[in-house]
Amino acid sequence: MSPLQWRAVSADDTRSLRNAFGAFMTGVTIVTAWDADGAPRGFTANSFTSVSLDPALVLVCIAKSANGLPVYEAAEHFAINILGDWQRDLSNTFAGRSPDKFAGVTLLDSERSAPCLADSLSVLCCARRQLIDAGDHLILIGEVLRYRDGVGSPLGYFRGSYIDFAEGSKAIQADLRTAVKVGCLISVDNGLVLVREPGREQWSLPEVFWREGVSQRAVIGEVFRRVGLAGDVAFIYSIFEEGGSGFTRLIFRGDAVGRTDKAPEGLEVRVFGAAEQPWLRVSGDYTVSMIRRFFKEREADNFGIYCDTADGGRIAGIAGKPVHWQDWQH
Ligand SMILES: Cc1cc2nc3c(=O)[nH]c(=O)nc-3n(C[C@H](O)[C@H](O)[C@H](O)COP(=O)(O)O)c2cc1C
Repeated sequence: MSPLQWRAVSADDTRSLRNAFGAFMTGVTIVTAWDADGAPRGFTANSFTSVSLDPALVLVCIAKSANGLPVYEAAEHFAINILGDWQRDLSNTFAGRSPDKFAGVTLLDSERSAPCLADSLSVLCCARRQLIDAGDHLILIGEVLRYRDGVGSPLGYFRGSYIDFAEGSKAIQADLRTAVKVGCLISVDNGLVLVREPGREQWSLPEVFWREGVSQRAVIGEVFRRVGLAGDVAFIYSIFEEGGSGFTRLIFRGDAVGRTDKAPEGLEVRVFGAAEQPWLRVSGDYTVSMIRRFFKEREADNFGIYCDTADGGRIAGIAGKPVHWQDWQH
């Protein structure tokens, strides 16, 4: 169904409603409080809203399914830690269910009413004022008692992805329906290059959004630079949309021919051989089967091109190796 058509709200399809909610871009916070045993607890929340200046009121919505719900229901005080763009990993940690989210996290000694994350962009210390039952969430309203405000770029969140404002318009796609992400299956010797954000479990292919006005050659160059490699693209390999991501993926395959002098920033880069089954280390059904196909086809030295279609996708075989345009002309 076209995204511009009206949809009836349905309990069986909360995903598309979630996508529509996700069109509202937000910042990211970590809400923290002490539990009854004096241990710090926290969770990532983008439902934070400032409500009133006089009195100074804020709210945040907590899912009734959250492990920590009883803590925030009971705590007299809580803190809203507004995250900067350097705290993406922290956001992922606190969005998880680990019992040990505070390992390695520095708390501010200067504030005791709630655990305050030292490195945050801003911190609001609040006294609980109201708890309102609202469907599958509780709305927690607090009065801000003290706050600190720092400098730096905020961490943003839009349609299920973080937005790095420092990266400018690179990561923001105004219209995801026409957005394209370009990636590359980069071979190094007999392995495949995968990348991983620090703290993440899953690996993924090196990819960048294709911004308006950037040439195809330049965007592929960006993909290689992202992993600190110089290389050659052999051919287009796959075109698909991974379930619900909202953008098309255009995946090339290519070979690394050397390293650039600039090391990749904020990314772990590794080459995986077939024996390590790299397809089991990535997420997304299409991506998994694409990487599996890549290794199989490379063994046979016979690559195909995959294109997703309404009837389940097609693969076209390519006879022989791609020939350089200049050689082909002569
Ligand atoms: C960017 C982002 C925003 C989130 N916002 C909220 C939110 O506003 N309310 C909420 O209850 N959960 C939100 N979550 C999910 C919680 O962080 C997640 O369920 C967490 O596991 C809850 O922690 P707990 O179960 O240990 O209490 C968000 C997750 C992310 C990644």
